Amino acid sequence: MREPAADNNHSNGSSSPPPPPPQALLERLKDYGQEDAFAFWDQLSSDQQNFLVQEIESLDLPRIDRMIRCSFQSHGLPAAAIEPVPESFVSTVEDRKLEDREKWWNMGLNAISDGKLAVLLLSGGQFMIVFTSCFSFFYLIFLMFEFQMQGTRLGSSAPKGCFNIGLPSGKSLYQLQAERILCLQRLAAQSLDRGSGNVVPIHWYIMTSPFTDKATRDFFKSHKYFGLEMDQVTFFSQGTIPCVSKDGRFIMETPYQVAKAPDGNGGVYSALKYSRLLEDMSTRGVKYVDCYGVDNALVRVGDPTFLGYFIDKGVASAAKVVRKAYPQEKVGVFVRRGKGGPITVVEYSELDQSLASEINQGTGRLRYCWSNVCLHMFTLDFLNQVANSLEKDSIYHLAEKKIPSIHGQTFGYKLEQFIFDSFPYAPSTALFEVLREEEFAPVKNANGSNFDTPDSARLLVLRLHTRWVVAAGGFLTHSVPLYSTGVEVSPLVSYTGENLEAICRGRTFHAPCEITF
Ligand code: UD1
Repeated sequence: MREPAADNNHSNGSSSPPPPPPQALLERLKDYGQEDAFAFWDQLSSDQQNFLVQEIESLDLPRIDRMIRCSFQSHGLPAAAIEPVPESFVSTVEDRKLEDREKWWNMGLNAISDGKLAVLLLSGGQFMIVFTSCFSFFYLIFLMFEFQMQGTRLGSSAPKGCFNIGLPSGKSLYQLQAERILCLQRLAAQSLDRGSGNVVPIHWYIMTSPFTDKATRDFFKSHKYFGLEMDQVTFFSQGTIPCVSKDGRFIMETPYQVAKAPDGNGGVYSALKYSRLLEDMSTRGVKYVDCYGVDNALVRVGDPTFLGYFIDKGVASAAKVVRKAYPQEKVGVFVRRGKGGPITVVEYSELDQSLASEINQGTGRLRYCWSNVCLHMFTLDFLNQVANSLEKDSIYHLAEKKIPSIHGQTFGYKLEQFIFDSFPYAPSTALFEVLREEEFAPVKNANGSNFDTPDSARLLVLRLHTRWVVAAGGFLTHSVPLYSTGVEVSPLVSYTGENLEAICRGRTFHAPCEITF
């Protein structure tokens, strides 16, 4: 929305007194106790008044009021006690047999080649991260130039998926994911002995937010969709919700603008519903949706083994999990809510520290050890059902934050849903353990932080790929210590280390380098 002009023709003494706020709109605001939104009306220019009217008219006040009331009510209630997830709910790495893995891989590839899988990337949120490593300094200059050209605020950074974590190829997180999708399509075609042209392309749904949408679309366009067909990618934006004070009133960011924030990654359910994308999936013949976070450099997008397992189990929802590394690790943990209750996740920000440190005396491991890595699989049927259930209950997490406001900053709440809030509604959920060194390289913090940085993610990728190359009969030389380098395998060549012998056997690679066709 364009910024309204500030000059106030009502206050220059030469014109008539300001018109009152539209009565009907004011009455509607009063119905929900939000009439303070018009508190500065008399001091606004007519442009600003129009802006404010449009702003308020664009809000679905009954729905927002329900969200605020239900979330405040539930916030005050004691939550049911949590219990660890029974081991029998988890498919552990050590329990899996080779024949199961092969069966699931083939089942998954079959479903993919039949067009039954869509992948769904969560790439919304509010904040973009600025990485300040040497490599990214130049990248940042490029981004600043690119965004200046696009009129985006100078000094902001790019959506996380645009980041190049410093791999030899220089690929961004989005490109790594796009190329894994391309590789899967090829594997699916090969599994059926069809030409790749005969496999239904995997449809990629990308959730942005009003803060990341333009930059994300532009990035894809300027990189020619990384080799994907343009029409196999659908962008859609998550919603925003007004931020509220402790007594549930809208916080005003400016005298004519309500402070708003994205509705959390669980906003995906209502965004899919309101953008009619669940129907779009159904029209395409999609049955299963693989949903994941943008900031994991090792993410196996649309993993056929996970999909095959999911289909084989016949569950409505599933999640990949890794063992929690240490009690304070910033990961949500899967738990059971109440005795024999449903499986859900307690986010790290909401888990009591003494519970986080509890040890299971039988195994010597953490009692709450199954970490959420933001990799979920759902049936389309379940997504249809849960979008309605979540809307009906309208319970959001109240994240206490300093919100930019007319007073500078106001302590208040952002209302957010989490992607895993759907799990308690699922008739059945399965957890699938994966090895963190194979599938979890989070990119959360700037380089220089102690963990989950672009540097740590890059090393995890290089170490895994180096192991693949050595296992395929390749050799490595390196001029810097091996612990800080390695080889990168292009996702176009191999998805999980398969098909590397022909390229690697007997060959020597000088690290760091990218192995490609
Ligand atoms: C997330 C998980 C956490 C898990 C961790 C693993 C949630 C709520 N939390 O935490 O349990 O252990 O990842 O790395 O999923 N996003 C949106 N819209 C939003 C907010 C976020 O699309 O409004 C996207 C982000 O772009 C990202 C993903 O959701 O792809 C995860 O969000 P983030 O805020 O990074 O969650 P974490 O705190 O890292």
